[in-house]
This record gives sequence, structure tokens and C-alpha cells, in this order.
Amino acid sequence: MMETVHVGLAGREYDIHIGPGLLARSGELIRPLLKRPRVAIVSDENVAALHLDALKSGLQAAEIESVSLTLPAGESTKGWPQFTRTVEWLLEQKIERNDVVIAFGGGVIGDLVGFASAVLRRGVRFVQIPTSLLAQVDSSVGGKTGINAPQGKNLIGAFHQPSLVLADTAVLGTLTERDFLAGYGEVVKYGLLGDFEFFQWLEANASCAASGDMDARIYAVKRSVQMKAGIVERDETEQGDRALLNLGHTFCHALEAATGYSDRLLHGEGVAIGCALAFEVSARMGLCSQEDPSRLRAHLRDMKMKVDLSDIEGELPDADALIALMGQDKKVVDGKIRFIMARGIGQAFVTQDVDMTIVRTVLQQALDAR
Ligand code: GLY
Repeated sequence: MMETVHVGLAGREYDIHIGPGLLARSGELIRPLLKRPRVAIVSDENVAALHLDALKSGLQAAEIESVSLTLPAGESTKGWPQFTRTVEWLLEQKIERNDVVIAFGGGVIGDLVGFASAVLRRGVRFVQIPTSLLAQVDSSVGGKTGINAPQGKNLIGAFHQPSLVLADTAVLGTLTERDFLAGYGEVVKYGLLGDFEFFQWLEANASCAASGDMDARIYAVKRSVQMKAGIVERDETEQGDRALLNLGHTFCHALEAATGYSDRLLHGEGVAIGCALAFEVSARMGLCSQEDPSRLRAHLRDMKMKVDLSDIEGELPDADALIALMGQDKKVVDGKIRFIMARGIGQAFVTQDVDMTIVRTVLQQALDAR
């Protein structure tokens, strides 16, 4: 079974195929893009060990030759040294302007390889084959590519849309439970930001998706990607609506910085906690009912996810220091933090008009509960 979502950006449109067994079908699906039957694959050590042979066989089935580069796994790969290595390797492999590069991995590989493709010979096409839930529902779609700088995450990059995305949902079976649930933080975000019915569906079905039900996994990825595609079509370069995708992220980025971007807090875990905090602030500001943050927290607890600051191990800075870290977020405009608040589940909006005394109180109470 394969579902398809189309991203209708004029001149840069592409399909996202979702379903099990897409690695085996990669050759037939990628072949129409190719001017010659040769591709370059960039992956990481974990993904390559588990899945590179399957991808190469799928390509070979359509008589596509491939060369591959395997980078170290982990966030530290997403910087200048591995980026330079990737670009120079692609040049050594004589990847031409009309060739296609495949980004095969999670968000780190997708972002780095997308950026390498954006600048190689002033831009070559690339295909995203995301292998983590987070990459399938968020980072592989929409064309944000880049690497980290010593000054912060994702500060160097370009908008460069992929030519095709293959989200093989069978590959999700090799994720650890923690990684799957971290990706789920981005899935639940879509229901919260714009689709109450999807949130209700998740309340009823997300635990089946987490325990491996393939139909539930396919629907969760498809609905997430449909919502992301719609937002990207309206606002590709984040002048307005695309910022909705950052629901929970201002809090998340401060918490990630406070925990040193370490295993203490994975990005998707920070998104889930950040969404709960954003709904709590929204309720205290009288924008939504107090039932909404309670309902969200109950769902995250049902999913056995991190929900509160007390679920983060080790020390955290005080509320003022966390607010200072929020001020480092690249979403700050004219010195004011841009928040995503909600009038209810499924009704998020972008605002700079947030009462910071309420933000401070919510954070302080969450820290006091630790
Ligand atoms: N991950 C947020 C965005 O793509 O805009």
C-alpha cells in the first residue's frame, strides 16, 4: 500500500510517497527523475548498517548504479567539517548538475545533504528518504536545509526543496521506542496546531501506531505531511503561517540549549513539553480553556512521553535564564519573542503579544514541581 501527498509549489512541486516497502521500490520511483542511471547516496553509520543494502538493491532492480558515503551518526555531524567532506566527496564522484543525490537518514542527514545539494554546482536535485519518524513527518518536507554553527542550531542553510520524498513506514520498525516517541512529539503538534479531529484520532489510535500498527503509522505520517505541505504551499519561506510549525519550539529550543543538546532531551521530547507549556500559557492568558492543556498532558502521559520539566533529568536553570535562552531563538523579531499560542486544540496562531509575567510564572511553577 502506498499513499501519496503532493506539494504544489509552482516550479518546484514534488510527491511524498508513504508506505511500507518503499526502499525495495526506490528504483522504479526515482528512475523518472534521472537523466542517467547513477545516483549518490549519503547516509549515516546507523542507517547504513541497517538499511543501505535494501536501498541499493531497490535501485539496482531498476538498473540504477549507486555510490555511497556514510557519515558518523549524531547531531555533531551537522557542522562544517562533515558538510565540507560531503560536498567534496560529491565532486570527487563527479556528480553533475543534472544528477540526483539521495539523503538517506534522519533529520541530521536530510538537512546536511539537502544543503550540500543546494550549493553543489549552484544546486542539484535531491531525494529525501527519511528513516526516523521525526524526519518523515517534518524535516524531510518543506525544503529547510542547513547545518549548525557554534552560535546555534540551523543558523547556516538554504531553502532547497527535494524532488521526491520516500517515507518507508516499515523502516520505522527499527527505531527505539524513545526515538519513535520523540518523533511523535512532532506528529501530535500537527493536531494541536490545526486539526482537532486529527488530535482526537491520535487520542484513539496513536498507541496502536506506537506499537507497530502499519495502517495507523501510515495515516499518522500522511495526515502530518498533508498539513505540512499545505502550510509550506501557503508560506514557503516563513513570512507568516509557516511559523505555526514552531508550536512548542520556543520553549523546546531553550530547554535543548539548557540541556546542552544532549541525550537528556531529544528534540521531539522538547517539542512535546514545549507544546504543553504553550497551551498552559494560552490557558492562563484566557485564550483557551484550562481543559485543553490538561487534555494534552493526559494524552502525552498515555503515550508514556515526557510532559513536564520534572521529566527532564538533572539540573535546569531558573525561569529567568530559560527566558533569556528563548531570546536567543532565531524566531525573535525586533527583539520580541514570537510565540505560537492557541485558542483551543487545533487553533494555533502566531503572536508577539504574550504576557511574559505569565510565561515566567508557568516556568517557575513547572521548575518548582521538580
Ligand atoms: N520544521 C519547521 C519547518 O519546516 O518550518
